Amino acid sequence: MTAPDASSFADAQVRVAQLRALIQQYDDQYFVDNASSISDFDYDQLKVELINLETAFPDLASPDSPTQRVGGRAESATFAPVVHPTPMMSLDNVFGPDELLAWGQRLQRGTDAAVSFACELKIDGLALSLTYRDGVLVTAATRGDGVTGEDVTANVKMIGSIPHKLAPDSDGNFPSLVEIRGEVYMPRAAFDQLNAEQATAGKPLFANPRNCAAGSLRQKDTATTRSRHLAFWAYQLGAVEGGPTFASHHDTLEWLARAGLPVNPEATVVATLDDALAFCLRWQDARQELLYDIDGAVLKVDQLGVRDQLGSTSRAPRWAIAYKFPPEERTTKLLDIQVSVGRTGRATPFAVLDPVFVGGSTVSMATLHNEDQVAAKDVRPGDTVIVRKAGDVIPEVVGPVIALRPKASVPWVFPDVCPCGKEAALIRDEDESNTFCANTIDCPRQLAARVVHFASRGAMDIEGLGEQRVQQLLDLGLIHDVSDVYALERDKLLGLGANVAKSVDALLSAIDQSKTRPLANLLVGLGIRHAGPAGSALLVKHIGDLDAIRSATAEQLSEIDGVGPIMAASITSWFATPANAALIDRLLARGVAPTIPETPTLAQTLTGKAVVVTGTIAGYSRDEAEAAIVARGGKAPSAVSRKTTVVVIGAEPGASKVTKAAELAIPTITGEQFEALLQTGEIPTP
Ligand code: IVH
Repeated sequence: MTAPDASSFADAQVRVAQLRALIQQYDDQYFVDNASSISDFDYDQLKVELINLETAFPDLASPDSPTQRVGGRAESATFAPVVHPTPMMSLDNVFGPDELLAWGQRLQRGTDAAVSFACELKIDGLALSLTYRDGVLVTAATRGDGVTGEDVTANVKMIGSIPHKLAPDSDGNFPSLVEIRGEVYMPRAAFDQLNAEQATAGKPLFANPRNCAAGSLRQKDTATTRSRHLAFWAYQLGAVEGGPTFASHHDTLEWLARAGLPVNPEATVVATLDDALAFCLRWQDARQELLYDIDGAVLKVDQLGVRDQLGSTSRAPRWAIAYKFPPEERTTKLLDIQVSVGRTGRATPFAVLDPVFVGGSTVSMATLHNEDQVAAKDVRPGDTVIVRKAGDVIPEVVGPVIALRPKASVPWVFPDVCPCGKEAALIRDEDESNTFCANTIDCPRQLAARVVHFASRGAMDIEGLGEQRVQQLLDLGLIHDVSDVYALERDKLLGLGANVAKSVDALLSAIDQSKTRPLANLLVGLGIRHAGPAGSALLVKHIGDLDAIRSATAEQLSEIDGVGPIMAASITSWFATPANAALIDRLLARGVAPTIPETPTLAQTLTGKAVVVTGTIAGYSRDEAEAAIVARGGKAPSAVSRKTTVVVIGAEPGASKVTKAAELAIPTITGEQFEALLQTGEIPTP
């Protein structure tokens, strides 16, 4: 770095003051009001910027800078202050492999000993300190400013997994005093369930499980805390008097577990920093498989003797580090709310966002699902919003940052006219959450969506016929229904622009190849309601050719195991509609000749089994997962019942399915175990 000159010092001084004020404001909100108006990542970025400036300009460092303290304030009107017997420290953060390795090198400069690392998940909740005297829980306190926290004993006693009494050791003894540190959190299923209830009651939604856990703990009425299904993981000891002494961190964890505290099962000890990094990277990928949120990993020197050698700074120990994962939440501007119209005419509102890097990719749009969701979240164009993208899950707008809302802002109103320009009304029936375009005949938006669906991978799989190209073809008036895809002429397509001959030929060849796709793909492409990939596969398997499917009665269809009356009625009524019958005739006349696969080559491992999928499974869309089950002879119902054999819980599972499976004691497996289930038909053990 070049030596700072006077003007850059002045700039730095201004920026440092700004950053300190901002961080203070966010700390107050977070610790005092349980609310956050900034995503964790953006907050951490402010701190990193401040640390960098204070390092570059040591004259600007100050003992009361937020970089020097743990964060938070102790005072609260509702909860009495408690001084922690030993202070609750914070952790320093690293944001990637390089920074982690640099930490490891600093560490090794402080000790000659060979260090092993206790690796733990960094639970995204709030820190809690439990004090037990002679085995009895006497105080539970939040971290507060690290020295003084809030007394939340009465609330903590409502958390089922926190023992009011410790289990005695083998001699029947307890330490006279022990401070146990850990994290209170809200499992995702409990959070989803609570927010579903909030939505039904027309109450505001909680932004994330962490804020919700904080709010649920700091309740005047402890019955509310009890109803919130909070949980706890113990991960650290504070003061211990009159009790066991330990040589290593993993000994303390084993003792905690024996004393009856929940200790996270993923905690492990490794011999090298490379292995510790592998732990971090593995969980960065697999975080969605957990039933609770984590925001990183925590690496701790395992040998307690070495910890003493290394010591601590004023805010954090040198012997531990938080490895923070890339953000799953960011704050950004909501530029506009628009409405897209799908192939069934359903009008779905979506957020147009100032592009933001979150969950590993740049996000500029996010669905808002339906009118009620927009109202429940009360997001408005011009708002600063929290955007979340977790794993493979589609991005979502969590909610607005009310503190940053422009004064003139008004609630967004669902449009009453279809955006297609044909002046068709958008209509929402009573008791329906969805809004539909009233033009069922020739809405160009619906037609575009139908053609895109027809050409998509699970249907006719026509490469090069995506949204943009379809829109061009529609604009040129070359397509009026999906059968026109097979009437496209090279000369007319060349009109799309100069130098397109190659791509036109590629498209025409892809279209040609699609004519002989399997019959089930054609059925999927037609977009018959209730006849998705699983249903279409059943029709082909049990009825065979297209003519027979076209002329089957609803009774005949309902006889098929897996086809219910609603699906049967939907299929017969679709084929009975003259316009649809004419469409099929045109497709056939234009050379579409669907193939019928031989009897299944796949082992029928799931015959007689009903497998319910919830959440996202890596490598499968929902439809693909269900088709994979059906292709192996199983059923893939959408709801959990007594007849369910097993529930596959992928990332971001539905709370109701998870709860129902637990209620009915139906076995569950993780998304990772899905493959094994398909192959063997046996329910893999954890
Ligand atoms: S150890 C002195 N272990 O992360 C070490 N903290 O950013 C104290 N946290 O205040 C903390 N999971 O609230 C530790 N396995 C874990 C953790 C963990 C989550 C939280 C804790 C701490 C914060 C620091």
